[in-house]
Amino acid sequence: MTEMTPVTDAAATKAPETPKKMAVPDAQTVTAVQHWTDRLFSFRVTRPASLRFRSGEFVMIGLMQTDAKTGREKPLLRAYSIASPSWDEELEFYSIKVPDGPLTSRLQHIQPGDEIILRPKPVGTLVHDALLPGKRIWFFATGTGIAPFASLLRDPQTYEDYDEVILTHTCREVGELEYGKQLIEEIRSDEMLAELIGEGFHEKLRYYPTTTREESPKMGRITDLMRSGQAFEDLGVSPLDPAVDRAMICGNLAFNLELKEMFEEYGLEEGANSDPKHYVVEKAFLD
Ligand SMILES: Cc1cc2nc3c(=O)[nH]c(=O)nc-3n(C[C@H](O)[C@H](O)[C@H](O)COP(=O)(O)OP(=O)(O)OC[C@H]3O[C@@H](n4cnc5c(N)ncnc54)[C@H](O)[C@@H]3O)c2cc1C
Ligand SMILES: NC(=O)c1ccc[n+]([C@@H]2O[C@H](COP(=O)([O-])OP(=O)(O)OC[C@H]3O[C@@H](n4cnc5c(N)ncnc54)[C@H](OP(=O)(O)O)[C@@H]3O)[C@@H](O)[C@H]2O)c1
Repeated sequence: MTEMTPVTDAAATKAPETPKKMAVPDAQTVTAVQHWTDRLFSFRVTRPASLRFRSGEFVMIGLMQTDAKTGREKPLLRAYSIASPSWDEELEFYSIKVPDGPLTSRLQHIQPGDEIILRPKPVGTLVHDALLPGKRIWFFATGTGIAPFASLLRDPQTYEDYDEVILTHTCREVGELEYGKQLIEEIRSDEMLAELIGEGFHEKLRYYPTTTREESPKMGRITDLMRSGQAFEDLGVSPLDPAVDRAMICGNLAFNLELKEMFEEYGLEEGANSDPKHYVVEKAFLD
């Protein structure tokens, strides 16, 4: 028989040392997780019944963390673009894994059935309402900046509003393009979207992926490919024109600034929800 430690009165009444687990506020349940590379994953969660959002917007999501000083549990939140379209029953997110990142070092380990915090207050500038009507829309992304466009590209309004839709995605390595590649395949094989997009010569959707540090069919930063004229030649379109083109940008800070400067040279002006114009910008992350 194993020896039992005698329980004294003091020990019996002592408060537990680990803090009581708090219920997760604004909890949503993870329904699926997919890992794309050692730095990228996507996941789906249940959608709050009352959540309405415009494709392209972002929300704050996170996990509970223990405050080192007080020992209390509190929410650790970060901005995340909703990657699913506004009509979807669930919400999808596409995420980086920052090895020592306060949130993503833990978030990358979520499993179906786990709970995350999702603050139901969607906001953002990458929305159709912030642009004037046009003929062609460009979505310019680097890395996880493709997330808001994964939402907009699955929204029928995108194809109803424009004759041509062009997604450019620049990443360092080929594996980082896989989420976008599968997204485009999914859209092209979706019955409802395929009908809006059309086929062959008349297809509205164009996809222009490029890599900068690993060999792929199209190498180079999109900014350089536009400056040299190569991107326009490859796509068979004229350089940007405020009478025709509308654009949304989502990438790292330097990328956003470089494109903004180029757009202004083409005569495009930056819009906002309250003042729709030719293009809109949002950071994919804070540098
Ligand atoms: C409007 C907005 C929308 C965003 N949407 C997304 C999204 O859809 N998916 C997503 O993964 N992140 C997104 N982010 C970034 C996100 O908010 C967090 O920064 C990210 O989840 C990392 O959190 P963390 O706590 O692990 O590290 P943090 O302390 O937040 O970041 C640590 C460092 O990691 C780098 N980093 C952070 N995020 C990224 C990223 N996405 N890609 C490359 N490097 C990064 C930066 O250098 C940053 O300084 C968005 C940010 C903003 C402002
Ligand atoms: N991706 C990785 O494999 C990797 C691995 C380890 C650590 N990290 C770190 O993680 C952070 C984010 O990396 P990330 O690869 O997700 O994002 P990133 O550094 O923003 O690069 C994403 C893509 O954008 C391109 N780009 C950068 N600035 C640009 C500009 N001004 N104009 C046009 N294109 C531009 C990059 O090209 P260039 O390659 O020419 O810069 C790259 O192809 C960085 O701090 C990085 O050091 C990344």
